[in-house]
Amino acid sequence: MAEIRLETLAHRYSPGGTYALKPLDMIWRSGGTYALLGPSGCGKSTMLNIISGLIRPSEGRVLFDGQDVTAFDTGRRRIAQVFQVPVIYRSMTVGQNLGFPLVCQGVPAAHRRKRVEAIAERLGLTGALNRPANALTADQKQLVSLGRGLVRDDVAAILLDEPLTVIDPQQKFELRRILKEINAEFGVTMVLVTHDQTEAMTFAEEVIVMNTGEVVQAGSPRDLFERPLTRHVGSFIGAPAMNFLPATAQGGAAVVPGTGLSMPLPEGAGSALSLGFRPEHARLATADAILSGTVTRLWFEGLDEIIAIRHPAGEIRLRAPAGTGLVPGDTAGIALDPGRLRLYLDDRLMA
Ligand SMILES: Nc1ncnc2c1ncn2[C@@H]1O[C@H](COP(=O)(O)OP(=O)(O)OP(=O)(O)O)[C@@H](O)[C@H]1O
Ligand SMILES: [Mg+2]
Repeated sequence: MAEIRLETLAHRYSPGGTYALKPLDMIWRSGGTYALLGPSGCGKSTMLNIISGLIRPSEGRVLFDGQDVTAFDTGRRRIAQVFQVPVIYRSMTVGQNLGFPLVCQGVPAAHRRKRVEAIAERLGLTGALNRPANALTADQKQLVSLGRGLVRDDVAAILLDEPLTVIDPQQKFELRRILKEINAEFGVTMVLVTHDQTEAMTFAEEVIVMNTGEVVQAGSPRDLFERPLTRHVGSFIGAPAMNFLPATAQGGAAVVPGTGLSMPLPEGAGSALSLGFRPEHARLATADAILSGTVTRLWFEGLDEIIAIRHPAGEIRLRAPAGTGLVPGDTAGIALDPGRLRLYLDDRLMA
C-alpha cells in the first residue's frame, strides 16, 4: 500500500511536441480508490503508465510514500497493472497463473499455495484452480490477471486500465463489487481508468476528470455532481447532462431572459455567461414556476421520467418520478431551489 504523489508531472512523447499530459500535481492516499475519467486520447493511459513505470515522464516526479520512484523500472515499484485485454499464461493452469509472481520471487511452495488459495477464494476461482487458464471466459481471465496482481503481499497499488471493457454489463457490476471488497479487505490503493462515468462514479472515492491532457476537476462523485468546475464536467457527468441556459448581465445579476432564473453577478464578470442546473434538482411546478415551456419529448429511465421542455432560452431536461401524465405538446412549468443554481463564465464555474 502506498500514497502516490505526482509532482509537476507532465509528458510529451516527443521533445518539443504537444503535451499528452499537461503539468499537474496530485496526491492519492494510501488505500484510496481513484478513477481517471475522460474521452479517448485525453491522457489516461499515459498517466497510469507513468505511475507504473512503463513510461518515463518527460517532466516532474512520481513518489510512493515519499520516495522518488521516477527512475525505477516497473518491477521495483511493486505495482500490479491490469489491462483492457487480460494477460494470462495460456499454457498454465489458473493456479499456476496466480502463483507465478510468487515463483519469480522465490516464495516457498507451501506459502505460495496458501496465498493462491486465498486469492482464488476471494475472486470466486476456487473451482477453476486446476483448469487450463486458456479455457476460461473473458471475465474469468480478467479475474486471473487481477489475482496475479493481488497474490503478492507487497503490492503498493493496483492500476487498472479499462479492465472491464471486455466484460458484459452484468459481470462488470460483479467485478466492480469484487474490486471494492478487495480494496476494503487489503487496503490496497486502486486507480481505475475508464471513459464510463457510471463506472468511475460508482467505483471511486475520488474521480479525476481529464480532457485533452489536462485534469479538469478532481473530486468526490458528489462534488462533481453538485459543483462541476466547468460546463464540460457538468455535461460529461450525470445523465441527462446538466442544463445550461445563456444569461445576460442585468444590474448586478446574471439573468436568463424570459425566466425567473437569476444569480448575483460578481464584480467585473464578463460576457459569455450561463446558468446551469441539474435535471435532478428541478421539479414540475405550477404556482411557483420560474420558467415554463412546451414538452417536446419524454422517456423513461427506471422509475423516473425524463422530460425535455423547450423554452426560447434553450432546451431543459428534468428528472421526475414516473407518472407525470405529461405528453408532448403540453405546457410544463419548473421550479428550482436557488441554491442549486450555478453560474458559469465562459466554460468555468464562478459561483
Ligand atoms: N506511444 C505514443 N507516442 C506518441 N503519442 C502517443 C503515444 N501514446 C499515446 N499518445 C498520444 O498521447 C495522447 C494521450 O493518449 P493516451 O493513450 O494516454 O489516452 P487515453 O486517455 O488512454 O485514451 P483511450 O481512452 O483511447 O485509451 C493522445 O493524443 C495519443 O495520441
Ligand atoms: Mg488508454
